[in-house]
Amino acid sequence: YEQKVAKLKSKIKSYPDFPKEGILFWDIFSAISDGPTCRLLQNLLVTVIRAKYPNVEAVVGLESRGFLFSFSVATELGIGCLPIRKKGKLPGEVISYKYDLEYGSDILQIQKDSIRPGIKCLIIDDLIATGGSITAATNLLLNCKADVVGCLVIMELISLNGRSNIPNGIPVHSLIKYD
Ligand code: PRP
Ligand code: MG
Repeated sequence: YEQKVAKLKSKIKSYPDFPKEGILFWDIFSAISDGPTCRLLQNLLVTVIRAKYPNVEAVVGLESRGFLFSFSVATELGIGCLPIRKKGKLPGEVISYKYDLEYGSDILQIQKDSIRPGIKCLIIDDLIATGGSITAATNLLLNCKADVVGCLVIMELISLNGRSNIPNGIPVHSLIKYD
């Protein structure tokens, strides 16, 4: 496992001052332009889910980079793949969650029909930074009475301590940690 994670880490490029000055952007797309690295990443995610969340019934991918990985692992595990999107992108009846940003606020939504009370779900995204996205997604799912078993991300920016904001002690697993 550690060797595979190290290999994956070596494939992820960072870009200073993107999208804004002072931000170091870790680009997961730089790793998955390579076929064997796609396989390696998929294998790592599925391995973690099988070990830590064997009873999970659906993975919830966060728009937009989370969608890539939620669909690929759902396909391999034969479980559901549910999207959480920004307001106005999902048809039919939706459940919304409004949350504060540094400036202003935003709204996340999930389709009502996709989520039943008690469903064991795992949130997936490429990255946890401040934790704002995952925290809002967790709160949305909890409002829907879903059973959020955990969060799985490829990369975590440790210094921002984003995981500390996630409610109910819901665990976060990250493959790669950056200081
Ligand atoms: C990035 C990243 C995570 C989120 C992490 O998404 O893909 O979803 O930010 O940041 P946080 O922990 O501080 O919330 P972004 O909003 O850039 O959109 P994208 O996935 O559509 O590129
Ligand atoms: Mg994102």
